[in-house]
Amino acid sequence: MLAELSPTLIAEVELATKLLKPAQRICILTGAGISAESGIPTFRDKQTGLWENYGVEDLATPKAFIRDPKLVWSWYQWRRQVVADKTPNPAHHALAQWQYHAQSTEQQLTLITQNVDDLHEQAGSTVTHLHGNLWRHKCGQCEAPVQEQARDSYSSQNTVGYDEALMTCAQCGGYIRPDIVWFGEALPVDEWHTAENAATNCEVFISIGTSSLVYPAAGLAQSAKQNGAQVIEINPNPTPNTFVDITLAEKAGIVLPLLIEEITAL
Ligand code: APR
Repeated sequence: MLAELSPTLIAEVELATKLLKPAQRICILTGAGISAESGIPTFRDKQTGLWENYGVEDLATPKAFIRDPKLVWSWYQWRRQVVADKTPNPAHHALAQWQYHAQSTEQQLTLITQNVDDLHEQAGSTVTHLHGNLWRHKCGQCEAPVQEQARDSYSSQNTVGYDEALMTCAQCGGYIRPDIVWFGEALPVDEWHTAENAATNCEVFISIGTSSLVYPAAGLAQSAKQNGAQVIEINPNPTPNTFVDITLAEKAGIVLPLLIEEITAL
């Protein structure tokens, strides 16, 4: 019910609905904030437990993996355990429902995520991952893909130390690494092409739960704006984006279901 929101937010949701209902091409970019209400910490949150003295920038880089592959692998094993039993929240479900609804309308929705979890897929969405996938691995040397480790072998009940065993590639002997885009690495070509295309050709761009600090993904909203799109941002906290047309300053899990209910209503 819209009435649960503040009057200012209701007014913004109504504006966003007016914009989105007739739009034919919509590009949606999500970041860690959309999974926060599922219990997955965002990147700018301080790390906890074993990893509280490490910054993400010290672990998610090719340099860090060369310097200490065991440490980096252990951190990802720990992150897999954190994510393993998490489930989609109302924001993921609302987007999946909107995509489903759009199949029978003229709307073309392109959903792009920076997240490496699979909560959009679990909710039933079709999504393009810009930064890779936590559940896929590849060889750090020859890049050969590696059979996924069964997801149910991870659980947030287990503990992971700093000394996780490393796996090596059956083909070249190199260390296996997560199939994730690290700081300083290029984005996957096809996925980036899909994202750029959708951003530059959309009428409305929606940025959800991202600090908009990490490029090139953060530049997609700007590209959309420069090409004439209206930009909507859903984030309880301010971001550096000064060109946003509508700001829904609330948690995605609260505001998205209400917004999408309005958009998909007859
Ligand atoms: N709903 C919406 N937004 C939220 C919520 C919520 N419930 N909770 C937090 N946020 C917002 C925060 O205010 C913040 O702006 O989500 C954003 C999360 O920002 P980051 O942690 O920086 O995550 P993200 O923008 O996805 O990071 C981009 O940086 O570390 C790299 O590759 C990694 O994909 C990641 C990229």
